[in-house]
Amino acid sequence: MDDLIAELAGALGEANVLVSEQDQAPFLTDWLGKYRGAARAVVRPGSTTEVAAVMRICARHKIPVVPQGGNTSMSGGATPDTTGDAIVLSLMRLNSIRNIDAISNTIVVDAGVVLAKVQQAAQQAGRFFPLSLGAEGSCTIGGNLAANAGGVAVLRYGTMRELTLGLEVVLADGRIWDGLTALRKDNTGYALRDLFIGSEGTLGIITGAVLKLFARPHARATAFVAVQDAAAALNLLPAVRDRCGDRLTAFEFMTGECLALILHHIGDARLPLAAMPPAAVLIELSDQDDEPGLRERLEAALIDSVEAGLVLDAAVAQDVTQAKAFWHIREGVSEALVREGKAAKHDVSIPVSAMADFVTSTDAAVRAAAPGIRPIVFGHLGDGNLHYNLLPAEGQTPADFAAIAPDLTRIVHDEIVRRRGSISAEHGIGQLRVGEMKLRKAPLELELMHQLKHLLDPAGLLNPGKLLPASPTN
Ligand code: FAD
Ligand code: MLT
Ligand code: ZN
Repeated sequence: MDDLIAELAGALGEANVLVSEQDQAPFLTDWLGKYRGAARAVVRPGSTTEVAAVMRICARHKIPVVPQGGNTSMSGGATPDTTGDAIVLSLMRLNSIRNIDAISNTIVVDAGVVLAKVQQAAQQAGRFFPLSLGAEGSCTIGGNLAANAGGVAVLRYGTMRELTLGLEVVLADGRIWDGLTALRKDNTGYALRDLFIGSEGTLGIITGAVLKLFARPHARATAFVAVQDAAAALNLLPAVRDRCGDRLTAFEFMTGECLALILHHIGDARLPLAAMPPAAVLIELSDQDDEPGLRERLEAALIDSVEAGLVLDAAVAQDVTQAKAFWHIREGVSEALVREGKAAKHDVSIPVSAMADFVTSTDAAVRAAAPGIRPIVFGHLGDGNLHYNLLPAEGQTPADFAAIAPDLTRIVHDEIVRRRGSISAEHGIGQLRVGEMKLRKAPLELELMHQLKHLLDPAGLLNPGKLLPASPTN
């Protein structure tokens, strides 16, 4: 056993320092199966003080550290590189709900708590935690924070950053920053909390958080709506919002090609419409009570929109089972893409009003560059966030597709930059977009980010190769 492993085992116990290939395997590949890395060890601390001990040992030995939660990153953010120099620091054993305060409307949790467990704990306390995404059964609060996760209820409740009041963070040198305050107002200087949120494990290890809770919505109304295209969907958005106001919780878009892919690969997904539409929107409203009233409100908005020529057909869920079946279609998309083969994934953000124009011109541009290419477009239209995925043309080999994928990404991101958008809305830069980050971020922004990185991680040990290009200039 070398010195490093012995010291880590001394701090955490041998059972929590995984060195065998077999034990490490689940931690070294990403959910999409795109990256495979190597590590000197996978360590599994069980408390904040144990995380601090790991960081002190790694700082002394100059060992890179890759933090990992549920390992559901869509950008290779939690996968180490292939050198085998780093350790993977799994937060999954930090899994306690520390406190729920119904009056302050807050919950304090360890970073390794799985998102679904936080939702359940809030529910048991008669409260509601709104972050919701397809990976909620396995992703962790620490990963949600490090990635500033979005999901399907951002329209009403905001992203993870907007749902967070306080953080506890272990710094690169092992010091613990206790920022676990539950304050809604605090004007005492720079918002350090917001610096760590979205930093993808490159500035510190998040070990705990104070999150906001909300009143539980007892009523929901869900509709699966056929539309002609993204332009019709965009016009439907204000029409629904005008009738339903803040009750509008989700507004999720899928093209017909995307729906066909889901129905093909997800055996128990059933289209609730008479015919396959050119595109569809999944709409959800939520409110404190009066489910029949809520449904009537949604139906009225849809009837108006049929008359205005925006809606081709619609199914409104009559009970929870039907609503779940609608969501099952939407939630099947990531799995369907993986089963179809490796897609070139883009997670773009643009002003909401520019989205239809973006889809039309990007479709035309990628099809001109790569005849037969298959855009699979879906996402959180109401947030101005689309997942613009590209699948190879029928019969194209993975190697041929891989060779042109960077050019296609360039085309997609050119369309984004033209509209003053962002190359990542919610999945983060990870290792997937580091090259594009260098091209698309202003030099001044990159320079400031590097300075912050140097301040908090002078030896560059925290999640190297992720988020930031090696230097601002080369
Ligand atoms: P990991 O994948 O383990 O890590 C993510 C990043 O955070 C890595 O950079 C890692 O180093 C860092 N990290 C993890 N824990 C910590 C910590 N405690 N301290 C510091 N850094 C840390 N994302 C969305 O935003 N919206 C969606 O709708 C959405 N849907 C998804 C659906 C599916 C089926 C899947 C597989 C993923 C989806 N994602 C979505 C992406 C992903 O689930 C989220 O980004 C999630 O927030 C990651 O959490 P995790 O615990 O799995 O983090
Ligand atoms: C989603 O919205 O379903 C996701 O962010 C996951 C994906 O893009 O595959
Ligand atoms: Zn998404």
